[in-house]
Amino acid sequence: MPAAYELIDEKGVEMLDKETVKELDRRHVVHSWSIQEKLEPLVVEKSEGMYFWDADGNKYLDFSSSLVNMNVGHQHPKVVKGIKAQAEKQCYIHPGIACTARVELARDLAELTPGDLNKFFFTLGGADANENALKFARAYTGKTKVLTKYRSYHGATYGAISMSGDQRRLPVEPGIPGVRFFLDPYCYRCSFGLEYPSCNLRCVNHIEEIIGYEGAQNVAAVLIEPMTGAGGFFAPPDGYFQRLREICDKHDVLLITDEVMVGCGRTGKWFAIEHYKGVLPDMMTLAKGLTCGYVPIGAVAISDRIMDKLGKEMLYAGLTFNSHPLACGTAKAVLDVYKEDKLIEASANNGAYLKPRLQKLMDKHVCVGDVRGTGSFFCLELVQDRATKEMLKPEISGTLAKRLMRKGLSTNVMANRLFIGPPFIATRDDLDKGLAIIDGVLGEVDQQL
Ligand SMILES: Cc1ncc(COP(=O)(O)O)c(C=O)c1O
Repeated sequence: MPAAYELIDEKGVEMLDKETVKELDRRHVVHSWSIQEKLEPLVVEKSEGMYFWDADGNKYLDFSSSLVNMNVGHQHPKVVKGIKAQAEKQCYIHPGIACTARVELARDLAELTPGDLNKFFFTLGGADANENALKFARAYTGKTKVLTKYRSYHGATYGAISMSGDQRRLPVEPGIPGVRFFLDPYCYRCSFGLEYPSCNLRCVNHIEEIIGYEGAQNVAAVLIEPMTGAGGFFAPPDGYFQRLREICDKHDVLLITDEVMVGCGRTGKWFAIEHYKGVLPDMMTLAKGLTCGYVPIGAVAISDRIMDKLGKEMLYAGLTFNSHPLACGTAKAVLDVYKEDKLIEASANNGAYLKPRLQKLMDKHVCVGDVRGTGSFFCLELVQDRATKEMLKPEISGTLAKRLMRKGLSTNVMANRLFIGPPFIATRDDLDKGLAIIDGVLGEVDQQL
């Protein structure tokens, strides 16, 4: 039983009892993405490695790395040590100043990011990284429009949600001007009714058509997740990004890849775009796995070519907390952990272990319509009927996350998609435990069809 149930933890720090936390939470805290009155948040005081514990002592396996960010696991001792060291050295110095934490992080990232993405603008998270990338694209090209996918999510601040095809955009509209959407490379439910490879990548050719309708002289950038996260957890087929790169070059449109979710090893490579041979983006945005959420940060990686031009003009961007030294120091500690503990390789190896086992779950359970993914980034798409691909009814899918929680597994379920994205530190035993719980719940779903 962890110390969280006592009122003093193991380090002598006073803790609130569960009922007080609940009461204060209800009275004063506004939670994101929820109907406040219906909310009954779990009280969690302790988390470690692959697990967290609620205030009643129940233990949960974190099978989605929280919000797909906790890549190194909870409370990694080397990261906690790095945060303490940076806090003692320097908590804050304003973004106009050069300091060790900033330059070391930028230098280390430049060694990892592909091509000439050697300049970094550090933000507070993923959403503002994408907004800044758009500002830079507009300043560089002198054009205003940006194209993004319908099944995309780029963040929840005003500009970022405006650029997200995701349904969460609708209640916030009208958003920022100049955003246009295109259809997705979603092979399981192809919008064009075609099949890869005989489709000849109709979905990417359609982007060129849209650039034509919008006027290439007006389109500054295509902003796209190299592998789609919240919008469906799918990867475009090979050839997609190679062709998209050609289209962008032909029309002087910048290619911005949003690696907020899939970067930093999530797909088994440092960056998901590396799965597409020879494709170099003009800008890349990062967040989540950069510090794994231990301290908030995001980044826009910008090509030397773009900064050569933008460097001569006023950069109209900046927040008080940008390039935060504590966050930069934390990110460096996390990057060191990825390298020292060989966690990017671990993410890829875990994927090789998971893939055939998830395929077996699909063979066994009729409710599974599709299995897809790589590295530590998998999805089971659940259906009423495999032949028609009718999505699992919300009455069933809506209860899945809770059912899994009751059996000790925490993961994200979005609509009919069950996400499997464990921290890279997961052992075979952790993976087997998670798979067994999912197997059990899928069996229950089969019964309901
Ligand atoms: C692909 C992608 N981009 C951007 C964001 C927004 O990042 P943040 O929540 O750090 O603002 C997210 C968040 O889930 C994301 O998945």
